Amino acid sequence: MTAVRSDGALAQIDPELASILADEEERQRSSLALIASENYASVAVRQVSGSIFTNKYAEGYPGKRYYAGNQWVDSAEALAIERAKRLFSAEHANVQPHAGSQANMAAYFATLNIGDTVLAMELAQGGHLTHGASFNFSGKLYRFVHYGVRRDTEVLDYDEIEAIARREKPKLIVAGATAYPRIIDFERFRAIADTVGARLMVDMAHIAGLVAGGVHPSPVPHADVVTFTTHKTLRGPRGGAILCRQELARKVDSAVFPGLQGGPLEHAVAAKAVAFHEALQPEYRVYQRQVVSNCQALAAHMGRLGARIVSGGTDNHLFLLDLTPLGLDGQQASDKAELAGLILNKNLIPFDPLPPTRASGLRVGTACVTTRGLGESDMAQVGEFLFRALVAPDEEALLAIRADVRAMLDDFPAPFLTPLMPAEAR
Ligand SMILES: Cc1ncc(COP(=O)(O)O)c(C=O)c1O
Repeated sequence: MTAVRSDGALAQIDPELASILADEEERQRSSLALIASENYASVAVRQVSGSIFTNKYAEGYPGKRYYAGNQWVDSAEALAIERAKRLFSAEHANVQPHAGSQANMAAYFATLNIGDTVLAMELAQGGHLTHGASFNFSGKLYRFVHYGVRRDTEVLDYDEIEAIARREKPKLIVAGATAYPRIIDFERFRAIADTVGARLMVDMAHIAGLVAGGVHPSPVPHADVVTFTTHKTLRGPRGGAILCRQELARKVDSAVFPGLQGGPLEHAVAAKAVAFHEALQPEYRVYQRQVVSNCQALAAHMGRLGARIVSGGTDNHLFLLDLTPLGLDGQQASDKAELAGLILNKNLIPFDPLPPTRASGLRVGTACVTTRGLGESDMAQVGEFLFRALVAPDEEALLAIRADVRAMLDDFPAPFLTPLMPAEAR
């Protein structure tokens, strides 16, 4: 009797999914990705993400697993931990969180009791759902109070954050954002936390790559616990991770497992090891510098074309475009841009009068286009495509831009999108 085999080519086993995958590959190849939270993982990262580590159950940690057969899983996870610690000069790393939200949940479990007060950035002004949105687990389990940006400058107001902290006496202060274009002063956050006897958590999900590349100050020397995602600017596999001081190591580890997860996704953990290795190479710093230079060039060009840039510019990999002067909302703008081959997301701007489903802004990020190989000199062209799309009168005009985008991208072939299997095997 022969065993049921499933090692044939995807196209033979599941032509329907193979065709969907091919369509997605074509979409990624032929559009300009400007979503600030995305990137293109390397072929090496994807190889390990799609590897046989997916077959293994490994509840526990290296050297302390519940199941047998974890010798090589242990090696891979130990390597990921060691590299994460080296990359960020951290005392302890946990690389098992399935995603950024789980990393944040584990950090809360490790530092708070249910009902404790936490001070974090307002979702509507750039914070994340897991920073206390009322419909998220964070807002349901803890008492969140929020800080935001100043109305006149649209940047964080540290004096106000300190005043709120003194008034509310949080047990934890969370720094970090999902849509904030400026450098965050972690030293100042530490000082505020110390003033009120709070712990400091930094969610560097968006800027982890910039921190690793040395183009944003690191939160690690200042924070008790730092969470991040590995798939945004860091350019690794989809996933999360936590760094902390030794003093919190046991609490963090047991919050992740068995606190909130079961078997870790060891194919993702092993791929995180590859991503950290890539981030430790000298060329990674060059890449991250280019991400920021491209972002500043693109924001400046959009400004010259007449768009309003929230806070007047950017220090990192993203900026926010206020669409109000153009008479569009974010949904209309992202729909128009998508037809023109430019992929980005609508976003609330500070003090936005519109609901999140419409929003007055677009969030624009340069991590993907920089991986694709575009430089500052290409940003004028990208800005022009985007501006033309926003003011385009009809579908015909948008499709004309789409043709121009495709023609431009022909010069940037994207080898990292190469399928892992040769065409005849797919
Ligand atoms: C600041 C911040 N924290 C956490 C997350 C959550 O990450 P994930 O989507 O992997 O759960 C995000 C995702 O956008 C984020 O921007």
